[in-house]
Amino acid sequence: MYAEVAKTDSIAPGGMIAVEVSGKELVLCNYDGKVYAIDRRCGHMNAPLEKGTLEGYILTCPMHNSQFDITTGEALSTPVPRDFGDEPFPESLQKYFQYLGTLMSEIKTCDLKTYPVKIDGDSILADIG
Ligand code: FES
Repeated sequence: MYAEVAKTDSIAPGGMIAVEVSGKELVLCNYDGKVYAIDRRCGHMNAPLEKGTLEGYILTCPMHNSQFDITTGEALSTPVPRDFGDEPFPESLQKYFQYLGTLMSEIKTCDLKTYPVKIDGDSILADIG
């Protein structure tokens, strides 16, 4: 079932927006003259993906940098640790990060669901099922 999710002028080329329709949270991505609809929540730990970055067809999560192909929803990478520079953390913080790292290694990064999109006049429609 297709439903209007946004207007065509609401997403700049190369941009993305979050929308919620009938309880479904989506991110609409404007890539290479086409609009793609993908689950809003990261397949790792639910971060809101529109707060990440879109480079070409690759969406990078703002929380732990997992990357997704917006055309297929495929998870292209697992989380990538951030570089905090050479300044050492206090020992207690190092232990906490080590603990988090152990937990994170057990969390799978799942593929995302994508939704067919079509344009009707100035409306973006997505098949949200
Ligand atoms: S929540 Fe997206 S990579 Fe962890």
